[in-house]
Amino acid sequence: MKLDRKIALVTGAGAGIGKAIAAALGREGARILIADRANAEGAAAELAAAGIEARGLEVDITSEEDVARSMAFAQTQFGGLDIVVNNAAIFSTLMPKPMEEISAAEWRQVMDVNTLGTFLVTKAALPLLKKSSAARVVNLCSGVAFKGNPLYLHYVASKGAILSMTRAMAKELGAHKILVNAIAPGFTLSENVENNPALMAKVRGPSIAGRSLARDMYPEDLVGAAVFFAGPDSAFITGQTLVIDGGSYFH
Ligand SMILES: NC(=O)c1ccc[n+]([C@@H]2O[C@H](COP(=O)([O-])OP(=O)(O)OC[C@H]3O[C@@H](n4cnc5c(N)ncnc54)[C@H](O)[C@@H]3O)[C@@H](O)[C@H]2O)c1
Repeated sequence: MKLDRKIALVTGAGAGIGKAIAAALGREGARILIADRANAEGAAAELAAAGIEARGLEVDITSEEDVARSMAFAQTQFGGLDIVVNNAAIFSTLMPKPMEEISAAEWRQVMDVNTLGTFLVTKAALPLLKKSSAARVVNLCSGVAFKGNPLYLHYVASKGAILSMTRAMAKELGAHKILVNAIAPGFTLSENVENNPALMAKVRGPSIAGRSLARDMYPEDLVGAAVFFAGPDSAFITGQTLVIDGGSYFH
């Protein structure tokens, strides 16, 4: 058990990649707090049915009030916090579109959730993480930050920000022994992605064709890296972003 009794907050873990990461951390012995604006309690119940200690809380990560409530919940329910996985983002509901068609409102919404949300959650977690003996932050970046994929400019910009935020947070928080790393997945068939036919039609084929390991990617393909960055085996690694995409982009 690499994460025995550690307390992990995973945002956006009501479904998809976040839920798979939460389950993987739980299988390593972590106690899990799922913070999502949808299905937080449902996903926590699924984890609990698999023998994992898990609680769910309905949270909008762009709301400072909700985020503060999550930290208070972690403190009262579990007694602190060791690991934050910043996974919640707007992605699977996006439609591919040329930049001329992206409105200022859409741009702001994607940036709000994907970058402001990550900032607010990490900032609010600091008082608890500073008390942990093995504090970790794991951010969900994306391969698009390296590749500059077209038709998702707001999303690509937001994940470029996550790459830079991971580095700057690592420098700033190193003094408190809080390690910050990121995972950059390739196109991953989470359930919400599979429910978006326009996204599947545009991205799935080219993604597979570009990989050294030419097959679909699933959430389970990246959970090992999340456990690694959340646990003791990465104790002298910080500020790094690991690309997990079956050998498409080499970083
Ligand atoms: N699926 C992919 O191909 C892929 C590739 C690279 C990176 N990623 C990243 O991985 C992460 C998860 O992706 P996914 O495919 O599972 O996406 P998803 O859309 O299925 O999951 C995102 C989760 O975040 C939640 N969420 C959205 N806005 C929120 C808010 N304001 N407050 C709280 N929760 C909110 C949603 O309810 C959802 O459960 C995201 O950061 C995404 O950018 C995904």
